[in-house]
Amino acid sequence: MDDAIAREVVNRCRHLATCSDEPGYTTRTFLSDSMHAVHAGLSRWMADAGMSVTVDAAGNIRGVHPGSSSAARRLYIGSHLDTVPHAGAFDGVLGVVMGVALVESLRGRRLPFSIEIVGFSEEEGVRFGIPFIGSRAVVGEVDATLLAATDASGTSVAQAIGHFGLDASRMADARAASNALGYLEFHIEQGPVLEHLRQPVAVVDRIVGRTYADVTFVGRAGHAGTTPMEARQDALAGAAEWIGCVETQARRMKDLVATTGRIDAAPGAANVIAGKCRVTLDVRHADDAARTITVGRLQSAAEDIAARRGLTVEWSPRFDHQAVAMHPALVSMLSRAVERAGAAPHVMPSGAGHDAMILAPHMPAAMLFIRTPGGLSHHPDETVMDGDVAVALAAGANFLEELAGSVDD
Ligand code: GLV
Ligand code: MN
Ligand code: MN
Repeated sequence: MDDAIAREVVNRCRHLATCSDEPGYTTRTFLSDSMHAVHAGLSRWMADAGMSVTVDAAGNIRGVHPGSSSAARRLYIGSHLDTVPHAGAFDGVLGVVMGVALVESLRGRRLPFSIEIVGFSEEEGVRFGIPFIGSRAVVGEVDATLLAATDASGTSVAQAIGHFGLDASRMADARAASNALGYLEFHIEQGPVLEHLRQPVAVVDRIVGRTYADVTFVGRAGHAGTTPMEARQDALAGAAEWIGCVETQARRMKDLVATTGRIDAAPGAANVIAGKCRVTLDVRHADDAARTITVGRLQSAAEDIAARRGLTVEWSPRFDHQAVAMHPALVSMLSRAVERAGAAPHVMPSGAGHDAMILAPHMPAAMLFIRTPGGLSHHPDETVMDGDVAVALAAGANFLEELAGSVDD
């Protein structure tokens, strides 16, 4: 594929990165105001490529390129449009913009399947502490409990949908077609493997399983100057002891990663003993049993620490997903497509979560990783190389051609 097209894809991602909730950074959470500008840009590019554009009740933007017959099955190509705080320009957005570029390069030609490009509204879990709201809507997994979840300001998911101008009661309409042919996602690798191997792209064969929980230690607030050390029920000190234990347990289980990425202590003053302390937990492993065993150990450790310190602990599960395999036939097809694009068909697992893990239990799914210079992601300096994007686009075009040859009109 033409390097100029790859350059345009990169420029479009950099343009969308300027749509932000925070001046000077790229920060865009679920259905925040800046998502309107992202939708405006994408819907213009989608419409110019001949796609019909809608936004579903979960705030996913969707552009449809029709197939050669009205009964044609549908290939979904997508990724997410929300970001972590102070993000780079490519995590998620690149996969959506590349999907649009692939449709553009068809120049109106219809394939024996329709193509729907989906820009998922939420994958990162930043605003509500619950990831994948966009893709879960597409597989029919947004229920009343999820709609009632609240963000830090007390706004529920349903209210956020309403504020964005959408109607949460229409959620069922967001579901994917029952005759879905499959799902394809392009995404930056977000790690150092491809750079180390000097390869532009890799085919993903599986995505690790993941447990998210909020762990809240509750003690008693008190005066920092007058309360003797032995008389304290310090929730923050209990949480700190447990955080150390998370790191120790994670190191004991081969290939497991565990992160306590956020800590909120209340009331939150230098001269007040913390009465309450919430810690987020994120545990991942390719083997579900290894993850489950470690989560069980961490839960027992939290209870032991709390009991010894006169605290209580509340364990609130936020998300739990088993490891998922990508579809073997699509992994092979994508590997051939990469080879025809002139690159080695390297196959690797994903340690990051992706919308593909939500779609995969419902339709055949495949993913292509693009080399990430320095392995740097979830950081403003995250980048991609135009030449790698060109290889990935060529592989995508080859994939569409082979799929077209294997599907009946
Ligand atoms: C998504 O960015 C993840 O946390 O894996
Ligand atoms: Mn991310
Ligand atoms: Mn991502």
